[in-house]
Amino acid sequence: MNTELDIDLDLQTVLLTPQQLDEITTRMATQITADYKEGAFGSRPLVMICVLKGAVMFYTDLVRKMERPVELEFVKVTSYGAGTVSSGQLKMHLDLFRTDYSNLNILLVEDITDSGRTLSKLTQLFRDRGAHSVRCCTLLDKPDRREVDFTPDYIGAVIPDEFVVGYGLDYNERYRDLPYIGILRPEIYS
Ligand code: IMP
Ligand code: MG
Repeated sequence: MNTELDIDLDLQTVLLTPQQLDEITTRMATQITADYKEGAFGSRPLVMICVLKGAVMFYTDLVRKMERPVELEFVKVTSYGAGTVSSGQLKMHLDLFRTDYSNLNILLVEDITDSGRTLSKLTQLFRDRGAHSVRCCTLLDKPDRREVDFTPDYIGAVIPDEFVVGYGLDYNERYRDLPYIGILRPEIYS
């Protein structure tokens, strides 16, 4: 563990240090750059869409490491009915407005994939709008929590079913500014 880290006392443990996050984003940007190099992927615009707010740190690190031109876009969504079984409805608070999506390769960039509802619904939305391709990139994946059949195309790290904060991720809007990701002490939210 990096002893230089000044760890927030609300955290139980640090899961990913700034250095590990840097390594993960470098590896992912290299992979994505390579995958969007050839043929129909290479010749069309790559639009990377940040799913606000949680993905913001990951997104800005990732796009800066891409070795090809990318267009930057942002969506902001909240999901309602989280406690109920099948009513995980998505409300769009910020959208992008393009007249024609048919030439675009869309890459959704999310902080964490939990039930899978957010990314599967956003994927469907951009497919319905006629995008040439739609893929998803998530920094963290909690596969144990999945409620819908969904697998992100790019995964930074698979994590256990714990509530994590930092590097964009929040609990009640707190901890987003931490430069690392840690497990929140259960007594903070229970
Ligand atoms: P999904 O639609 O259930 O996959 O929702 C994913 C969203 O839930 C993420 O974008 C986060 O906003 C939130 N979320 C899920 N797990 C965590 C966590 O451990 N910490 C912080 N936010 C989380
Ligand atoms: Mg989020």
